[in-house]
This record gives sequence, structure tokens and C-alpha cells, in this order.
Amino acid sequence: MPNTLGQSYLQTSPWKKNLFDGKVVFVTGGAGSICRVEVEALVLLGANAAIIGRRKDVTEKAAEEIGQLRPGAKVIGIGGVDVRDVKSLASAVDTTVGQLGRIDFVIAGAAGNFLANVANLSANAFKTVVDIDLLGSYNTFKATFDELRKNKGHIIFISATLHYTGLPMQVHASAAKAGVDSLMRTLAVELGPLGIRSNAIAPGPIAGTEGMDRLSGKNDPNRFNRIPLQRYGTTTEIADATVYLFSDASSYITGTVTVVDGGSWQTGSVTASSAMYPTKITELNSKTAKL
Ligand SMILES: NC(=O)c1ccc[n+]([C@@H]2O[C@H](COP(=O)([O-])OP(=O)(O)OC[C@H]3O[C@@H](n4cnc5c(N)ncnc54)[C@H](OP(=O)(O)O)[C@@H]3O)[C@@H](O)[C@H]2O)c1
Repeated sequence: MPNTLGQSYLQTSPWKKNLFDGKVVFVTGGAGSICRVEVEALVLLGANAAIIGRRKDVTEKAAEEIGQLRPGAKVIGIGGVDVRDVKSLASAVDTTVGQLGRIDFVIAGAAGNFLANVANLSANAFKTVVDIDLLGSYNTFKATFDELRKNKGHIIFISATLHYTGLPMQVHASAAKAGVDSLMRTLAVELGPLGIRSNAIAPGPIAGTEGMDRLSGKNDPNRFNRIPLQRYGTTTEIADATVYLFSDASSYITGTVTVVDGGSWQTGSVTASSAMYPTKITELNSKTAKL
């Protein structure tokens, strides 16, 4: 996947070119659709970055491409790291501090998702998603905590809006993201006195992401009807929310969720799976439950 952002971002975005000079960001899922563009924006605006993922080749290639966005940028890709394993994250933190000197900002963005009705979702599949999204977010915080404390840093959790309503086919991801929001809020309270901020961004339906491509009915002509802003969001819009939250423009903001969804969840419409309600869902859940 090539870079989404380029030099024009420095002219067209509202941000100052050297906003994040000297800052280092550590991003789980940084080679993925949304978090990669967050990293691109931060690097264009002066930050150095470490991106973390399981796939070594994909993570290293993305880091190399992002590093080309700004002369002198240092972007390292650390593959072979699973957020479910706090020790492998701790070793990625050591590598980052060894090569980039420090960590100021953290994005806990790694996640996995798929559609499954409850009769079909095994206990193990539920656990896997909770382990990656929720435990993985906690592990990411734990592994970076010393750096966050040292540098009075800021952690952003990438959440979702799935759990604001009861959304069929998403019980696993909804439960995990509800936990992520709770984790974020508790950390804001517990760590605020240390000068650490903790916030979340909840993307709504974002165009061109692997998640949306897999989870939405992309050829459904009615797919924008119940999104107040009448379109999907862009990865750049998530990046802009990230820049705002990491910047001093939000210095008194902690413990919040910034919802970037065009107003979608207010109409109770989060994904195309709602079109399956209730007939198809009831049919699927009438089969013998899988353990
Ligand atoms: N797409 C949307 O419209 C949407 C809507 C709401 C919320 N979100 C949230 O936004 C974030 C990014 O979503 P996305 O659609 O951009 O995802 P994506 O393109 O599928 O990227 C996910 C990234 O997470 C990494 N990852 C997954 N499991 C991991 C693990 N166990 N350990 C380490 N890294 C792991 C993947 O790399 P490897 O495979 O190499 O590990 C990949 O880089 C997620 O938190 C998602 O829940 C997305």
C-alpha cells in the first residue's frame, strides 16, 4: 500500500509544519489502513515513529515508505510482535528507545474483527478478539508506561462506535471496544496526576480500510442514507483528529472519546449488518450453537 498523504498535506491541512519536531510516536497496527495514515501525518509534521505488527515484511515496508515522506525522518518497522504478548511489546519499546531515543505518544490501534452471529461465534473466537483489542491495548499501555511517565506523554486508543447500540454480528468487537473505552477513562483518572493524557478516537465507517471493505455492503446504494454527513469518512480525517489530540490545542483534554463518524451512530446505523435485522440474524441464530 503506498502512502496516502504527501507533501500537499503540509499545505492543505490546518497544522503547522514542525508541530511534532523531536517527538516520537509508538503505534501498534501502524501498517494498517487507519493507523498508517495517522503515522504519515505525524511524520510529515516532524515526529519520528515506530510501527508495530505481526507481519515483519509488511511492517518494515510500510515504515520505509512512511520514512520517505520527510527528509531526515526516522521510521522503524518492528514486525513479529503480537500485542497479546506484553513481553514482545516490551522488547519493541526497548528497540524504539534504543533507536529513536524516547516515546512521547502512543497509539494502541492493533485490532482484529470479523462478522459473526452469536450461535456461530465460538468462545475461542470471542476470546481472540477481546485478547487482541482489549488485552492488547492494556499491554501496549503497560509496555510504554515508563516512557509515558518520563515524558509526560499521551496515549490514544483506537476504539469504535459499535458498542453504543446493540449491533448484531459484532458482540465480540463491541465488548472489546467497550472495555477499551473503560480502560482509557480509568487511565486518564489514574495517570492525570503524572501528567499523562489518555484519550480515544472512535472511527465510524471509514472508506478504503480493510475493516470496512470486509464488514460493509460496499455496493449497497443505500449505504449512506443513515449517515448524517452522507458519506464514509476518510483515513485523513482520523489522522487529523489524532494530530489535534496529540497537539497542545487539546492540552486540557483527557478521558474523552473523539467520535469521527459523520454522525452515524446517532441514527443507530453503524454497518450494513443492520440490514440483516431481524430476519437473517434470527435465521442464523436458530441453528445449534457452536462452542
Ligand atoms: N475500518 C474502520 O472503518 C474502523 C471502524 C471503527 C474502528 N476501527 C478501528 O481502527 C483500528 C484500525 O482499523 P483498520 O481497519 O485500519 O485495521 P487493519 O487495516 O486491519 O489494520 C490492523 C493492524 O493491526 C495489526 N494487528 C492486528 N492484530 C495484531 C496483533 N495481534 N498484534 C499486533 N498487531 C496486530 C495488523 O498488522 P499484522 O497483521 O501485521 O499484525 C494491522 O497492521 C482498529 O482498532 C479498528 O478496530 C476501524
